[in-house]
Amino acid sequence: MNGWKIATAGSALVVATMFGASAIAQSPIVIKFSHVVAVDTPKGKAAEYFKKLAEERTKGRVKVEVFPNSQLYKDGEEMEALQLGSVQMLAPSVAKFGPLGVREYEVFDLPYIFDNFAELHKVTQGAVGKMLFQKLESKGIAGLAYWDNGFKDMSANKALKLPADVKGLKLRIQSSNVLEAQMRALAALPQKMSFSEVYQGLQTGVVDGTENPPSNFYTQKMHEVQKFLTMTDHGVIEYAVIANKKFWDALPADIRTTLDGAMADATKYANDIAKKENDDALEGVKKSGKTQIITLTPEEKAEWKKALVKVHREMESRIGKELIQAVYKETGFKP
Ligand code: LMR
Repeated sequence: MNGWKIATAGSALVVATMFGASAIAQSPIVIKFSHVVAVDTPKGKAAEYFKKLAEERTKGRVKVEVFPNSQLYKDGEEMEALQLGSVQMLAPSVAKFGPLGVREYEVFDLPYIFDNFAELHKVTQGAVGKMLFQKLESKGIAGLAYWDNGFKDMSANKALKLPADVKGLKLRIQSSNVLEAQMRALAALPQKMSFSEVYQGLQTGVVDGTENPPSNFYTQKMHEVQKFLTMTDHGVIEYAVIANKKFWDALPADIRTTLDGAMADATKYANDIAKKENDDALEGVKKSGKTQIITLTPEEKAEWKKALVKVHREMESRIGKELIQAVYKETGFKP
């Protein structure tokens, strides 16, 4: 067979392969980034900002498709979707890593372990944050960054002034055993529930109340179905921005470097806006006139701390005493 005949016989294949190859070369790398909150929140805005930077700086070689508001996957589904490669990026609250088998992340859920963002950053931006990312690798997950949301407040249809007021209430929590212990310490009945179901759960009375930072409370319209919001600031919602490790490691080196830079800038942006986003959301709740905001005196706050800090000891066997001590060392927390 001469060369011409070979070319003729395989021409369809050759042409298809050539076009296929060029199509592959030209088609962008698509990153599906799924999350559960509204666009108008610290995480929602930071995800959009990352998309913008990633697409601009890679000159279109990367396309980031952001799916907010549990549009694609809800809690409990999204981690598996990431591991299977159905999506490439997520930014779940660190309270949601227990079901994956990385329960050390629940150290962030210990009540009153952080007094402010500066203390939180010592942990996320230090050795503990790095060590926790390493724990994800065996699960096929790459840890990219930590993004802030804010400090959680307690809500219900009755005024929660003191810890005793919570007794007997059914309260929605994220999928964290530390949060479960926290609610039990208040003699409440904790109920793990996906974020996307919270509004309806509150509306129908499946749960009586919940805990969240104002940005989530307001953008999910919880003020329509909760009469009181108490400024307990007893814990944080913090996010780990994560990627499918196989996907991330297989990116061309120049693209990965560019995306790392975009992530660093998006992280700065996220953590710069988080406080103001929450302050603004709280204003929105106030203006709605539907939820009464309860501020606590220092004495009342001390009561909440007293009722909740005992959870730290209780959870040593779950999270690890050493890890808790390492966080105390960073934050200066004294039990
Ligand atoms: C929640 O489930 O309450 C939060 O983790 C939602 C979020 O992503 O902020």
